[in-house]
Amino acid sequence: MGDILNVSHLTKRFSGLVAVDDLSLTVKERQIHTLIGPNGAGKSTTINLITGVLKGDTGTITFAGKDISAMPTHKIAQLGLGRTFQNIKLFGAMSVIENLMVGAHKNTSQGIVNFLWNTKRAKDEEEKMRAHAEQILKQIDMYSHKDDMVNELPYGLRKMTELGRTLMIDPKMILLDEPAAGLNPSERQEFIQHLKDVYDSGIDLFLIEHNMDVVMSISHYITVINFGAKIAEGEPKEVVNNPEVIKAYLGSRFKAE
Ligand SMILES: Nc1ncnc2c1ncn2[C@@H]1O[C@H](COP(=O)(O)OP(=O)(O)OP(=O)(O)O)[C@@H](O)[C@H]1O
Ligand SMILES: [Mg+2]
Repeated sequence: MGDILNVSHLTKRFSGLVAVDDLSLTVKERQIHTLIGPNGAGKSTTINLITGVLKGDTGTITFAGKDISAMPTHKIAQLGLGRTFQNIKLFGAMSVIENLMVGAHKNTSQGIVNFLWNTKRAKDEEEKMRAHAEQILKQIDMYSHKDDMVNELPYGLRKMTELGRTLMIDPKMILLDEPAAGLNPSERQEFIQHLKDVYDSGIDLFLIEHNMDVVMSISHYITVINFGAKIAEGEPKEVVNNPEVIKAYLGSRFKAE
């Protein structure tokens, strides 16, 4: 299997602070790759750099063989790289299915302008999009909630809505920033299962996660960063037993057999 995502010597400074420090990492196709590290280590910044939300000071990023280092976010999404945010970004006063459809608009050939224009072509496109959204909601067991207002949903279902929205662009890969944060144990179990299903459907995953039960149950490969720099990478068991990782991050919170 080849590489799907390659980050090479990426650095990002915020005034005096080096948030991401000469970071290189490779995500292989057909792997669930998890990025871990202490609060403030530069994990979210890394995802923001990969998705073009932030521009790096140095370094290159390639996705599916294309250099995306200087690409705007919507172009990167069009290539098939989806993402979720650490803080949910949904339209609370809209229904679940509307949130999925709005998420997809940026990526259609017609765009939001024609959507409002109300042409026949735009109407057809909207119907196609609705059918696609319905199919995704069925796939992630959210169909019965499709007309619920997002701000009336429990947190776990909002997280699922966000996941559903990333699927609207038919991604090759999804980046998830702490998808299980704030979920209760049963929601978390369910979410893990849905992520595994998404992965089994052919989508590669790169996630940031603090909950080590989630990390250990889902990851094929782990990269650990501290102060923006990589301190370890490898298979889960190997990484969590690495003395430097224990010292910098895991402490006595987690012991792998
Ligand atoms: N827009 C910004 N301007 C200035 N400093 C920033 C900005 N975004 C992040 N930082 C700083 O960069 C460092 C890395 O932040 P980042 O959010 O990437 O950490 P993180 O690993 O995602 O942490 P957490 O686990 O708490 O989410 C932190 O010191 C943070 O305060
Ligand atoms: Mg973060």
